[in-house]
Amino acid sequence: MRIFDSHAHLDTKRFDEDREQLLIDLPTLGVTGVMNASVNVENAKQVLALCEKVSYLYAAVGIYPHETHLAKPGDLMELEKLAGHPKAVAIGEIGLDYYWDESPKEIQKKWFIDQIRLAKRLSMPVNIHCREAHGDMVAILKAEQDGSLKGVLHSFSGSVEVMIEYVKLGFYISMPGTVTFKNAKKVKEVAMAVPLERLLVETDAPYQTPEPFRGKRNDPSKVRFIIQEIARLRGLDPVEIGRITDENARRIYGIEEQ
Ligand code: NI
Repeated sequence: MRIFDSHAHLDTKRFDEDREQLLIDLPTLGVTGVMNASVNVENAKQVLALCEKVSYLYAAVGIYPHETHLAKPGDLMELEKLAGHPKAVAIGEIGLDYYWDESPKEIQKKWFIDQIRLAKRLSMPVNIHCREAHGDMVAILKAEQDGSLKGVLHSFSGSVEVMIEYVKLGFYISMPGTVTFKNAKKVKEVAMAVPLERLLVETDAPYQTPEPFRGKRNDPSKVRFIIQEIARLRGLDPVEIGRITDENARRIYGIEEQ
């Protein structure tokens, strides 16, 4: 099975003990690619340094909603420089989070829009985090969509109706480990309804671990369980879902097959 993890954080502390071995093992477990998101400028530098050492690892560079109240005016120019790195394939993760609400909404929106415009100027996709903010999110994306905006809604947790709005706007939908949870009715409905050519899968590792490892640390090899559940829900072959999501990830992030 081909496994492309469209969003992970392998730079985080929880991988410090065994990161090197894990990165050696992942390709033997079917992992063909991993997109590692970053949360601020300093973190983006660390992520890019890690990507330089691992052929199948790619980076998104960006400022996460919770971090926007700490961002400095010069950060946008820094990001633009980092986005020129050969391993940088997206601007992210960026977005809106009204659930935790750690940065004031107006600051979140300002940084989100500034980073969308940077991505458009650089012809790069965005990797979007959205929690309890779909109203403002859809409005901003509609206003910014001039034909040059493209990207991914990461760890999608909205309804089928909202998903369709994003697909109409040209976006890809990335499904997380929660799709494997027994009572995750809404996520399963979305996983069945996303057009196959817009479907992605992700771990958000070390977070959001799928069944049967729920509660343990997540890692990109566990995308397998997400692929298997989506295949079961849609009555398709898991190998086929793996192939399609790998192709989709390479298309949106502009990554050639190795
Ligand atoms: Ni993330």
